[in-house]
Amino acid sequence: MSRKFDAIMSQYLIVSDVDGTLLGDDRGLSALAEWMQSRRDRLRFVLASGRFFHSVKNSVLENGIPDPDVIIGGVGTQISLYPDGEAMPGWRALLAQDWDAQLVRQTLASMPGLALQPEEFLSDWKVSYYAHDASSDLLNEVRARLADADLRTRVIYSSRRDLDVLPAAASKGTAARYVSEQWAIPAERVVVCGDCGNDASMFEHGFRGVIVGNADAELKSLAGPGIHLSQRSYAQGVLDGLKRWIGE
Ligand code: GLC
Repeated sequence: MSRKFDAIMSQYLIVSDVDGTLLGDDRGLSALAEWMQSRRDRLRFVLASGRFFHSVKNSVLENGIPDPDVIIGGVGTQISLYPDGEAMPGWRALLAQDWDAQLVRQTLASMPGLALQPEEFLSDWKVSYYAHDASSDLLNEVRARLADADLRTRVIYSSRRDLDVLPAAASKGTAARYVSEQWAIPAERVVVCGDCGNDASMFEHGFRGVIVGNADAELKSLAGPGIHLSQRSYAQGVLDGLKRWIGE
Protein backbone atom coordinates (compact mmCIF):
# COMPACT_ATOMS: atom_id res chain seq x y z
CA MET A 1 0.00 0.00 0.00
CA SER A 2 1.39 3.39 -0.91
CA ARG A 3 2.34 5.98 1.69
CA LYS A 4 -0.69 8.12 0.94
CA PHE A 5 -3.02 5.56 2.50
CA ASP A 6 -0.75 4.74 5.46
CA ALA A 7 -1.75 5.42 9.02
CA ILE A 8 -0.12 8.63 10.19
CA MET A 9 0.54 8.77 13.90
CA SER A 10 1.25 11.83 16.04
CA GLN A 11 0.25 14.31 13.40
CA TYR A 12 -2.42 16.96 13.17
CA LEU A 13 -5.06 16.94 10.50
CA ILE A 14 -6.35 20.34 9.41
CA VAL A 15 -9.62 20.34 7.45
CA SER A 16 -10.63 23.72 6.10
CA ASP A 17 -13.44 25.13 4.04
CA VAL A 18 -12.27 27.26 1.09
CA ASP A 19 -14.65 30.10 0.08
CA GLY A 20 -15.12 32.66 2.84
CA THR A 21 -12.71 30.77 5.11
CA LEU A 22 -9.31 30.47 3.39
CA LEU A 23 -10.23 32.86 0.59
CA GLY A 24 -11.15 36.49 1.25
CA ASP A 25 -7.90 38.07 2.45
CA ASP A 26 -4.74 37.45 0.37
CA ARG A 27 -2.33 38.74 3.00
CA GLY A 28 -3.89 36.52 5.64
CA LEU A 29 -3.59 33.55 3.32
CA SER A 30 0.12 34.26 2.77
CA ALA A 31 0.69 34.37 6.53
CA LEU A 32 -1.20 31.09 6.96
CA ALA A 33 0.74 29.45 4.11
CA GLU A 34 4.02 30.49 5.72
CA TRP A 35 2.95 29.08 9.12
CA MET A 36 1.92 25.81 7.50
CA GLN A 37 5.03 25.46 5.38
CA SER A 38 7.33 25.41 8.39
CA ARG A 39 5.25 22.57 9.92
CA ARG A 40 4.18 20.76 6.78
CA ASP A 41 5.86 17.45 7.63
CA ARG A 42 3.78 17.20 10.81
CA LEU A 43 0.48 18.23 9.29
CA ARG A 44 -2.04 16.64 7.02
CA PHE A 45 -4.07 19.25 5.17
CA VAL A 46 -7.51 18.73 3.65
CA LEU A 47 -9.75 21.21 1.84
CA ALA A 48 -13.52 20.73 2.23
CA SER A 49 -15.74 22.57 -0.23
CA GLY A 50 -19.19 22.67 -1.74
CA ARG A 51 -17.42 22.87 -5.10
CA PHE A 52 -16.09 19.83 -6.96
CA PHE A 53 -12.45 18.68 -7.10
CA HIS A 54 -11.36 20.46 -10.29
CA SER A 55 -12.82 23.78 -9.28
CA VAL A 56 -11.12 23.61 -5.87
CA LYS A 57 -7.85 22.51 -7.48
CA ASN A 58 -7.99 25.60 -9.71
CA SER A 59 -8.40 27.77 -6.61
CA VAL A 60 -5.34 26.13 -5.06
CA LEU A 61 -3.29 26.78 -8.18
CA GLU A 62 -4.52 30.36 -8.63
CA ASN A 63 -4.70 31.70 -5.10
CA GLY A 64 -1.68 30.44 -3.19
CA ILE A 65 -3.58 28.01 -0.98
CA PRO A 66 -1.04 25.48 0.35
CA ASP A 67 -1.17 22.18 -1.55
CA PRO A 68 -3.61 19.88 0.23
CA ASP A 69 -3.22 16.10 0.63
CA VAL A 70 -6.89 15.54 -0.12
CA ILE A 71 -9.87 17.54 -1.37
CA ILE A 72 -13.31 16.80 0.03
CA GLY A 73 -15.55 18.11 -2.76
CA GLY A 74 -19.26 18.50 -3.46
CA VAL A 75 -20.16 18.99 0.24
CA GLY A 76 -18.61 15.65 1.20
CA THR A 77 -19.79 13.60 -1.77
CA GLN A 78 -16.22 13.30 -3.13
CA ILE A 79 -12.98 12.47 -1.33
CA SER A 80 -10.12 12.87 -3.81
CA LEU A 81 -6.38 12.68 -3.44
CA TYR A 82 -4.47 15.77 -4.50
CA PRO A 83 -3.24 16.51 -7.12
CA ASP A 84 -4.36 13.63 -9.33
CA GLY A 85 -7.97 13.38 -8.13
CA GLU A 86 -7.90 9.64 -7.40
CA ALA A 87 -10.89 8.70 -5.21
CA MET A 88 -10.15 7.64 -1.66
CA PRO A 89 -11.28 4.00 -1.65
CA GLY A 90 -14.47 3.01 0.12
CA TRP A 91 -16.21 6.36 0.52
CA ARG A 92 -18.63 6.29 -2.42
CA ALA A 93 -19.81 2.79 -1.47
CA LEU A 94 -21.00 4.19 1.86
CA LEU A 95 -23.13 6.82 0.12
CA ALA A 96 -25.02 4.57 -2.26
CA GLN A 97 -27.61 3.23 0.18
CA ASP A 98 -31.16 4.50 -0.47
CA TRP A 99 -29.84 7.17 -2.80
CA ASP A 100 -31.17 7.98 -6.26
CA ALA A 101 -30.26 11.40 -7.70
CA GLN A 102 -32.85 11.17 -10.49
CA LEU A 103 -35.59 10.42 -8.00
CA VAL A 104 -34.51 13.41 -5.89
CA ARG A 105 -34.84 15.62 -8.97
CA GLN A 106 -38.24 14.21 -9.87
CA THR A 107 -39.49 14.52 -6.31
CA LEU A 108 -38.55 18.18 -5.98
CA ALA A 109 -39.15 19.24 -9.60
CA SER A 110 -42.47 20.94 -8.99
CA MET A 111 -41.65 22.66 -5.71
CA PRO A 112 -42.18 26.41 -5.69
CA GLY A 113 -39.25 28.36 -4.24
CA LEU A 114 -36.59 25.93 -5.54
CA ALA A 115 -34.51 26.46 -8.69
CA LEU A 116 -32.10 23.74 -9.77
CA GLN A 117 -28.49 24.96 -9.85
CA PRO A 118 -26.61 24.79 -13.19
CA GLU A 119 -25.57 21.25 -14.21
CA GLU A 120 -21.87 22.00 -13.57
CA PHE A 121 -22.68 22.10 -9.84
CA LEU A 122 -24.65 18.83 -9.86
CA SER A 123 -23.57 15.20 -9.92
CA ASP A 124 -24.99 11.73 -9.45
CA TRP A 125 -24.29 12.27 -5.73
CA LYS A 126 -25.32 15.89 -5.19
CA VAL A 127 -28.52 17.62 -6.23
CA SER A 128 -28.42 21.33 -5.42
CA TYR A 129 -30.94 24.14 -5.69
CA TYR A 130 -31.08 27.87 -5.13
CA ALA A 131 -33.69 28.76 -2.55
CA HIS A 132 -33.30 32.40 -1.57
CA ASP A 133 -34.33 33.14 2.02
CA ALA A 134 -36.05 29.79 2.39
CA SER A 135 -38.47 29.52 5.33
CA SER A 136 -38.33 26.62 7.78
CA ASP A 137 -41.71 25.54 6.35
CA LEU A 138 -40.16 25.20 2.91
CA LEU A 139 -37.21 23.19 4.27
CA ASN A 140 -39.59 20.93 6.20
CA GLU A 141 -41.66 20.40 3.07
CA VAL A 142 -38.53 19.45 1.11
CA ARG A 143 -37.56 16.90 3.77
CA ALA A 144 -41.10 15.51 3.96
CA ARG A 145 -41.35 15.00 0.19
CA LEU A 146 -37.99 13.23 0.08
CA ALA A 147 -38.98 10.95 2.96
CA ASP A 148 -42.32 10.18 1.29
CA ALA A 149 -40.35 9.04 -1.76
CA ASP A 150 -38.44 6.60 0.51
CA LEU A 151 -35.19 8.48 0.00
CA ARG A 152 -32.80 8.76 2.92
CA THR A 153 -31.10 12.07 2.30
CA ARG A 154 -29.27 14.87 4.06
CA VAL A 155 -30.59 18.33 3.28
CA ILE A 156 -28.16 21.18 3.95
CA TYR A 157 -29.16 24.82 3.65
CA SER A 158 -26.47 27.48 3.66
CA SER A 159 -25.81 31.16 3.05
CA ARG A 160 -29.61 31.72 2.85
CA ARG A 161 -29.35 30.55 -0.74
CA ASP A 162 -27.93 27.08 -1.35
CA LEU A 163 -29.93 23.95 -0.72
CA ASP A 164 -27.98 20.73 -1.16
CA VAL A 165 -29.64 17.31 -1.20
CA LEU A 166 -27.06 14.62 -0.51
CA PRO A 167 -26.96 10.92 0.33
CA ALA A 168 -27.73 10.51 4.05
CA ALA A 169 -24.15 9.52 4.87
CA ALA A 170 -22.56 12.47 3.06
CA SER A 171 -21.47 15.76 4.56
CA LYS A 172 -18.21 17.60 5.02
CA GLY A 173 -18.20 16.33 8.61
CA THR A 174 -18.70 12.63 7.85
CA ALA A 175 -16.14 12.87 5.05
CA ALA A 176 -13.62 14.53 7.41
CA ARG A 177 -14.23 11.76 9.94
CA TYR A 178 -13.68 9.13 7.23
CA VAL A 179 -10.34 10.70 6.27
CA SER A 180 -9.21 10.98 9.90
CA GLU A 181 -10.06 7.29 10.41
CA GLN A 182 -8.22 6.23 7.27
CA TRP A 183 -5.13 8.03 8.55
CA ALA A 184 -5.71 6.95 12.18
CA ILE A 185 -5.56 10.52 13.48
CA PRO A 186 -7.54 10.86 16.73
CA ALA A 187 -10.34 13.45 16.92
CA GLU A 188 -8.44 15.69 19.34
CA ARG A 189 -5.73 16.11 16.70
CA VAL A 190 -8.17 17.10 13.99
CA VAL A 191 -8.86 20.83 13.56
CA VAL A 192 -11.79 21.86 11.34
CA CYS A 193 -12.31 25.43 10.07
CA GLY A 194 -15.34 27.03 8.50
CA ASP A 195 -17.64 29.99 8.00
CA CYS A 196 -21.13 28.90 6.92
CA GLY A 197 -23.97 26.40 7.05
CA ASN A 198 -22.46 23.65 4.94
CA ASP A 199 -19.53 23.58 7.41
CA ALA A 200 -21.73 22.92 10.47
CA SER A 201 -21.45 19.12 10.12
CA MET A 202 -17.68 19.33 10.64
CA PHE A 203 -18.29 20.59 14.18
CA GLU A 204 -20.36 17.53 15.16
CA HIS A 205 -17.63 14.91 15.45
CA GLY A 206 -15.61 15.93 18.49
CA PHE A 207 -12.91 17.62 16.45
CA ARG A 208 -11.28 20.88 17.53
CA GLY A 209 -13.02 23.71 15.72
CA VAL A 210 -12.23 27.14 14.35
CA ILE A 211 -14.98 29.53 13.27
CA VAL A 212 -13.65 32.56 11.44
CA GLY A 213 -14.79 36.04 12.54
CA ASN A 214 -16.68 36.69 9.28
CA ALA A 215 -18.80 33.55 9.72
CA ASP A 216 -22.60 33.43 9.50
CA ALA A 217 -24.52 33.82 12.75
CA GLU A 218 -25.83 30.24 12.41
CA LEU A 219 -22.28 28.88 12.53
CA LYS A 220 -21.08 31.27 15.23
CA SER A 221 -23.77 29.90 17.53
CA LEU A 222 -21.84 26.59 17.62
CA ALA A 223 -18.83 28.18 19.39
CA GLY A 224 -17.98 26.82 22.84
CA PRO A 225 -15.42 24.59 24.53
CA GLY A 226 -13.46 22.90 21.76
CA ILE A 227 -14.74 25.34 19.14
CA HIS A 228 -12.77 28.58 18.93
CA LEU A 229 -14.55 31.64 17.58
CA SER A 230 -11.85 33.88 16.17
CA GLN A 231 -12.07 37.66 16.28
CA ARG A 232 -10.18 37.68 13.00
CA SER A 233 -11.58 37.03 9.54
CA TYR A 234 -10.81 34.61 6.70
CA ALA A 235 -7.32 33.05 6.68
CA GLN A 236 -6.21 35.25 9.60
CA GLY A 237 -9.00 33.69 11.62
CA VAL A 238 -7.91 30.21 10.54
CA LEU A 239 -4.32 30.99 11.55
CA ASP A 240 -5.48 32.36 14.89
CA GLY A 241 -7.44 29.16 15.55
CA LEU A 242 -4.64 26.84 14.44
CA LYS A 243 -2.28 28.59 16.86
CA ARG A 244 -4.89 28.09 19.58
CA TRP A 245 -5.18 24.32 18.97
CA ILE A 246 -1.78 23.34 17.57
CA GLY A 247 0.48 25.97 19.12
CA GLU A 248 2.47 29.01 18.00
C1 GLC B 1 -20.86 25.60 -3.57
C2 GLC B 1 -21.43 24.67 -4.61
C3 GLC B 1 -22.94 24.70 -4.60
C4 GLC B 1 -23.45 24.43 -3.19
C5 GLC B 1 -22.83 25.40 -2.20
C6 GLC B 1 -23.23 25.14 -0.76
O1 GLC B 1 -21.15 26.93 -3.89
O2 GLC B 1 -20.96 25.02 -5.91
O3 GLC B 1 -23.45 23.73 -5.48
O4 GLC B 1 -24.84 24.51 -3.15
O5 GLC B 1 -21.42 25.30 -2.28
O6 GLC B 1 -22.87 23.87 -0.32
